Amino acid sequence: MRTRKTILDIGLMKQQHDKITVLTAYDYPFAQLMDSVGIDMILVGDSVGSVFSGYDNTLPVTLDEMIYHTRAVVRGSEQALIVTDMPFMSYQVDKRDARLNAGRLVKEGGTQAVKLEGGEHMAATIRSIVDIDIPVVGHIGLTPQSIHRMGGFKVQGREEEQARRILADAKAVEESGAFAMVLEGVPRDLAKRVTESVSIPTIGIGAGADCDGQVLVIHDILGLCDKYSPKFVKRYADISTMITTGVDAYIKDVKSGDFPSSEHSFK
Ligand code: KIV
Repeated sequence: MRTRKTILDIGLMKQQHDKITVLTAYDYPFAQLMDSVGIDMILVGDSVGSVFSGYDNTLPVTLDEMIYHTRAVVRGSEQALIVTDMPFMSYQVDKRDARLNAGRLVKEGGTQAVKLEGGEHMAATIRSIVDIDIPVVGHIGLTPQSIHRMGGFKVQGREEEQARRILADAKAVEESGAFAMVLEGVPRDLAKRVTESVSIPTIGIGAGADCDGQVLVIHDILGLCDKYSPKFVKRYADISTMITTGVDAYIKDVKSGDFPSSEHSFK
């Protein structure tokens, strides 16, 4: 059995200029496969709501669902650091809720760390979770749980005033004790400024090449979800075609009587 990466390993990677690789997973087989090829961190993202459950956004995802998916991912992996998203309304209302819910993700889900969205206005919440020894990843820039405030999934920080706010958010997340932060949907230059201004790793998604690491949704890079195809996604495989080809061949075999053959039958 291999030893699991810790938040200390991830912090060291920034200092050593070793890029941090992160992908989302929501189940046992995907976790097993990406873990076996050495992914540094697995994010049990609330993107599960879109790519697994078929919702239009992440807002309907519940804490119990995140616990369920985290358990499967933890069972499927042995070396990656596991981080789980705190879903919408599990941390926004008050710090007590946030601590209890982060605690459930660790105790019942088995995660090593939680991620929550928001900068300056969430700093006290991040601090209160870190204070009970649960490591936190911040998430700033385009924050999908704020879709209704943002008016859609729009790049953030193009205007200087907004960019200044994102830099302040990054500082607040760092000072609140988070060990890393996701930087989503911001111009490359701003992501570079943020990355150079904080001592903790930045993990970019749609934030250019200068972040300390990169995260993408597994369904997007494998061509498993055609609903959206954001500009920042690179497709590394076409699993949808493999699945439909396999299922189509099965249907034809059953209809024609070619399956099951004697090879697949008992005497
Ligand atoms: O939910 C998620 O998958 C995320 C990443 C895309 C950063 O938050």
